[in-house]
Amino acid sequence: MNAAKTKYKNLLKRYAAYAPQYDRKWGRYSAATLSKALEVIPLGDASALLDVACGTGLFAQMLRRQRPQLQITGVDISSPMLEKAMQRIPPLPGKVTWQLGTAEQLPVDSAQFDVLTCTNAFHLVQDAAKALAEFRRVLRSDGTLVLVDWCRDFPLMKFRAAMLRVFDRQRRQIRQLDELTGAIEAAGLAVESKERFRAGLWGMMCVVACNPQVPSSRMFDESKSPLAEHSMPVR
Ligand SMILES: C[S@@+](CC[C@H](N)C(=O)[O-])C[C@H]1O[C@@H](n2cnc3c(N)ncnc32)[C@H](O)[C@@H]1O
Repeated sequence: MNAAKTKYKNLLKRYAAYAPQYDRKWGRYSAATLSKALEVIPLGDASALLDVACGTGLFAQMLRRQRPQLQITGVDISSPMLEKAMQRIPPLPGKVTWQLGTAEQLPVDSAQFDVLTCTNAFHLVQDAAKALAEFRRVLRSDGTLVLVDWCRDFPLMKFRAAMLRVFDRQRRQIRQLDELTGAIEAAGLAVESKERFRAGLWGMMCVVACNPQVPSSRMFDESKSPLAEHSMPVR
């Protein structure tokens, strides 16, 4: 976490200042972008969901209204944002967990989640490839990633990206939809749907991708392992 603190110094400062007013300031934007995520999310028989860069826990609250039984884990790099999330929904053993951590190094075990969401934050993640590899690690096979983020395909967002590059000290990568789906596929996830949408003045995109099931023929077959001839029988 220490290396991350250095890399994210400006962002941490910003969200420490934002946290008390985040929900008020970004209420309408959040409602529009999070309801898109809610619309596409396959909650069917999902039992465990990880919300990466969960912020003040707004999305967790929306999810709990729809599916009170869902186990939700929220991870965020900013303690003040997480504190707001904890005030909104106090931790509930086995039901709601809040954890400090980064998208690039998620503080959770592998293959634990049916759904992983990351909303309004991926453009802030400094090592996208590492984060996507982590998303895949923690998703169960056949689990689903739902990613909602700013989209540079909209002229206004292109302009916003250029302005932010000049005036904002936080490095962001505002991607085009095809760039984002390319990165997701490079991480070994299969894109199932992708779309652009507007949330007021914001140009957004939403991608749903699946962590493919490991075909049984590709599963590790001990008898074919080069180590097999040297292995000792188990007694
Ligand atoms: C714009 S807020 C969005 C919060 C929430 N996902 C939502 O849609 O309401 C961005 C959040 O991303 C978090 N964040 C940014 N980079 C992160 C990273 N690498 N790992 C974990 N959290 C990160 C910030 O601390 C902040 O809480």
